[in-house]
Amino acid sequence: MKINATDFYSNDSFARIKAEAAKHETPFLVVDTSIIGKGYDELTSAFPFAKIYYAVKANPAPQILSLLRDKGSNFDIASRYELDKVLAEGVTPDRISYGNTIKKARDVRYFYEKGVRLFASDSEADLRNIAKEAPGSRVYVRILTEGTLTADWPLSRKFGCQNDMALDLLILARELGLVPYGISFHVGSQQRDIGAWDAALGKVKLIYDRLKNEDGITLKMINMGGGFPGNYIVRTNDTATYAEEITRFLEEDFGDEMPEIILEPGRSLVANAGILVSEVVLISRKGNTSLNRWVFTDVGKFSGLIETMDEAIKYPIYTDRSGELEGCTIAGPTCDSADIMYEDFKYPLPLDLQIGDRLYWFSTGAYTTSYSAIEFNGFPPLQAHYI
Ligand SMILES: Cc1ncc(COP(=O)(O)O)c(C=O)c1O
Repeated sequence: MKINATDFYSNDSFARIKAEAAKHETPFLVVDTSIIGKGYDELTSAFPFAKIYYAVKANPAPQILSLLRDKGSNFDIASRYELDKVLAEGVTPDRISYGNTIKKARDVRYFYEKGVRLFASDSEADLRNIAKEAPGSRVYVRILTEGTLTADWPLSRKFGCQNDMALDLLILARELGLVPYGISFHVGSQQRDIGAWDAALGKVKLIYDRLKNEDGITLKMINMGGGFPGNYIVRTNDTATYAEEITRFLEEDFGDEMPEIILEPGRSLVANAGILVSEVVLISRKGNTSLNRWVFTDVGKFSGLIETMDEAIKYPIYTDRSGELEGCTIAGPTCDSADIMYEDFKYPLPLDLQIGDRLYWFSTGAYTTSYSAIEFNGFPPLQAHYI
């Protein structure tokens, strides 16, 4: 498994990123924002009927927020701090959804005071907070979905509620003076099985019909969350295939009465645009006859690569060396033994790799900078350069 740059980046883009990388000392992330722009255009033409709410948590850099603002994106927000960042870019509150189901009552009030009127919920206590602190707002209820086994970064269990509870919450929303607006789900991040959307939409359809036929509530919106893939080692279908299939599922379930559709892409919009550049600090073996090579780099789980937890996300790693490949263990620079990125998966790296060489971690534009610790072992947070 040799990682070729041309399988992941255009020559132009890779040259631009490398030129920027040459100016800085490792470790750092370089993001080519033109890739994000193109990805956004691709997504909107694949899903012409959908409204995009960029999941800011994937990468909250102002350069990305302003680019997506200008492209007409809306924003899915997880906290008041993200809200402040997005408002600071001049985004109006009607383009914002408070998508976190776990929130303090005073944060709901904060969003309301800033003009936000669209809220997610999955529990009675939270719904009552929304009714009190954000009266009259539109709410959508998040349901539990399956898909854990086929998503590389599952979001199961913690978010969403079962169908019968979703029904109760939407009915209660109306009683509390809120607008029961729609249903949301997230099939799990880096979801490789497109069928996961089919199963989730089947559940949504049941709730829609029940509310309409028995309770006189016509929901207006389905929020299909994120889950679309970045380009890592494990192959996935392309955006067009996801779009074709998901559109078919929607048409089968809703026909001509398709409600407003929201997508909340995070990873798929920004992952491919970033390359994390690190340096090999040490190459060693643990015994005189050991066959296993350890490669230590100046970036690790605590400086942006936390999604290698359980070796969930397998980033493509490129080096300029082209020697014979040998599987190795790759670990970060801190004095914590959890700081190992790949150990079960023997990552093939060239045998002629040397201390001081640069490693280019492809598709690291999502969930890296924002996850980086601020001072673990004294190491500063991951730096980023946007071109
Ligand atoms: C509510 C919500 N929407 C969207 C996303 C983005 O998902 P993805 O990065 O898979 O596109 C997340 C990710 O955690 C989320 O929690």
